[in-house]
Amino acid sequence: MKTILITGGAGFIGSHVVRRMVNRYPNFNFVNFDKLTYAGNLETLADVETKSNYTFVKGDICNVEDINDVFSTYKITDVIHLAAESHVDRSISGPMEFVLSNVVGTVNLMNVCKAHWTDLSNHIFYHISTDEVYGSLGQEGLFEETTAYDPRSPYSASKASSDHFVRAYHHTYGLNIRISNCSNNYGSHQFPEKLIPLMIHNAVEGKDLPIYGDGLNVRDWLWVEDHASAIDLIFHEGRNGETYNIGGLNEWTNIDLVKRLATIIDQRLGRAEGETAKQIKFIKDRAGHDRRYAIDASKLEAELNWKPSITFEEGLDKTVDWYLNNQQWVKNVVSGEYQTYYENQYKS
Ligand code: NAD
Ligand code: TYD
Repeated sequence: MKTILITGGAGFIGSHVVRRMVNRYPNFNFVNFDKLTYAGNLETLADVETKSNYTFVKGDICNVEDINDVFSTYKITDVIHLAAESHVDRSISGPMEFVLSNVVGTVNLMNVCKAHWTDLSNHIFYHISTDEVYGSLGQEGLFEETTAYDPRSPYSASKASSDHFVRAYHHTYGLNIRISNCSNNYGSHQFPEKLIPLMIHNAVEGKDLPIYGDGLNVRDWLWVEDHASAIDLIFHEGRNGETYNIGGLNEWTNIDLVKRLATIIDQRLGRAEGETAKQIKFIKDRAGHDRRYAIDASKLEAELNWKPSITFEEGLDKTVDWYLNNQQWVKNVVSGEYQTYYENQYKS
């Protein structure tokens, strides 16, 4: 019987992964191990809580005792590792949390795997990473699995470092690993510090829609459930030691994306055409702002037959509708710590 530890399962992507795996694999047990930082929220998983193959354990990957306890109690057989500090702006104002959770936490987790698993080749350690490890693209080209690492923010440097440690544990100790590097995700339950939910929230509240710099930075957006389906495939069918890029060939400049969101919000809230876009405000650029990300996911498509399930237009509509229909969820997560973060980040 497999008992799979999903770290960071109370976060944005983790909650989608937990929901998918718990529902699709009733014969496996899943333990969601999460520190419940500002970004973790169990409300998000209320529908999964009662499932008999699901358990939540509050714990910190920076604390070896916490990890040892969960491995001993639940006889963990495999790990899908998503727990991390994930926001670039926060990594600029406070990099050390990123070193601790993303680098030290990942190494702690693998050390506990080594201590508990007698044959490391019999268990999977799957590390979820980002395309930001590859750095910033010019106008042409895509990130491939072979693109040299060139992280440029404290966040991406911490993720790159953890990727290197995971590969080092594979080569040195024979840990059976997979790594995937995914482009920007969007969808329900994303914390409103990230571009899309922040813009939806501010648009509804009548606040500024703050665009960094000239708004021409490009991100490659993927529906979070398509990321979860890729993770499911890579976990079950991916090859030991391999890296897979995940992305949907869906590049948008920030300004075009925010204008599109503003149009959807005008329609949904019955505002006059162009009204929400008046809230757009260009502000000081992010330090070291990467210009363009874009992913080549052809290896994943060819090897594992993965494809995104919906278009960006559909996904964006669904996302706006989710936020509009779940205002209480948003109110709960933006109360408290978020206010201080927002005031510091966006003070002019
Ligand atoms: P998130 O910030 O929404 O959630 C992170 C979760 O990890 C939270 O539930 C938090 O409580 C938990 N966590 C943080 N530190 C912890 C610690 N020390 N111990 C235990 N739990 C801890 O992040 P997300 O956007 O869901 O990202 C999940 C993973 O996917 C991260 O590893 C991130 O680097 C990666 N990723 C994210 C994106 C994206 O667009 N959001 C894209 C590619 C890869
Ligand atoms: P973000 O969602 O923070 O993801 P990442 O930095 O990991 O790509 O930001 C996406 C893009 O949107 C990025 O180019 C920065 C930009 N951005 C803004 O212009 N304004 C904002 O308030 C935020 C949060 C992001």
